Amino acid sequence: MTFENILLETKNHITTITVNRPSKLNALNTATIKELHIAIKTANDDIDTKVILLTGSGEKAFVAGADISEFASYSVKEGKKLSSQGHETLFNYLANLSTPVIAVINGFALGGGLELAMAAHFRIASDNAKMGLPEVSLGVIPGYGGTQRLPQLVGKGRAMEMIMTGGMIDANQALNYGLVNYVTTYEDLMPLAEKLAEKIMKNSTVAIASAIRAINANYKDGVNGFATEIEEFGNSFGTSDFKEGTAAFLEKRKADFPGK
Ligand code: COA
Repeated sequence: MTFENILLETKNHITTITVNRPSKLNALNTATIKELHIAIKTANDDIDTKVILLTGSGEKAFVAGADISEFASYSVKEGKKLSSQGHETLFNYLANLSTPVIAVINGFALGGGLELAMAAHFRIASDNAKMGLPEVSLGVIPGYGGTQRLPQLVGKGRAMEMIMTGGMIDANQALNYGLVNYVTTYEDLMPLAEKLAEKIMKNSTVAIASAIRAINANYKDGVNGFATEIEEFGNSFGTSDFKEGTAAFLEKRKADFPGK
């Protein structure tokens, strides 16, 4: 599959998906959202991929938001469709993916760009990164999960302030808020992402997928996260990875997980 707005590369069990519209600061138009869905699904279905890194092309932007030029003339109905399709195709899809996804924020992550990063399982950033949800400055609100995921990550008061002011925070403030897990130089960003990915891929992919479901259960309406944890924990005992992981520990050797 060839993409117009996405770069896809798999190396050492890590698939890097790069949003590649640098002349528009990697803004997410509908075509890019569709391509991202396909790229993420391809990586998730690929048995060779153990971790996905999501980043933006160039030194300036991760993703500078949804493509404003595309929705500027939309009606109420079209606005609702844009948001609901985005949730389904990309943002919720990404958040619930069974393969771990790290957002590697290499510059501006604004609006839909920050929402994309927040839908990933966790985030790291370069020290030139700037993050914000400036939608109210355009007369609209975050529509790709920002009003829900930002308060979950940074707390209600900080999210209210960020969304109401539409202002940007720098990488260190994002670190302080818990919005990103690490901040490093631009040059060290990808090496850090790869180091984290390598640490993750030493573990059972089946157990990691199970942990993602259990953690996400806490954020789903009408779902009891503790009940999900009990179910997922119990199911672990039926996997080959569990047999290998426990046997390896008892035999004082490194586990070689079959991934099932
Ligand atoms: N949608 C569409 N195009 C965008 C975009 C977006 N969200 N963000 C940037 N671009 C385009 C600009 O229109 C410009 O295109 P052009 O060269 O054809 O005019 C190009 O990307 C470069 O952006 P520019 O604004 O010239 O760069 P800058 O360094 O002066 O400013 C930003 C950088 C990020 C501060 C500024 O681009 C910006 O505010 N972008 C919009 C952010 C936003 O509101 N996002 C939320 C959308 S819901």
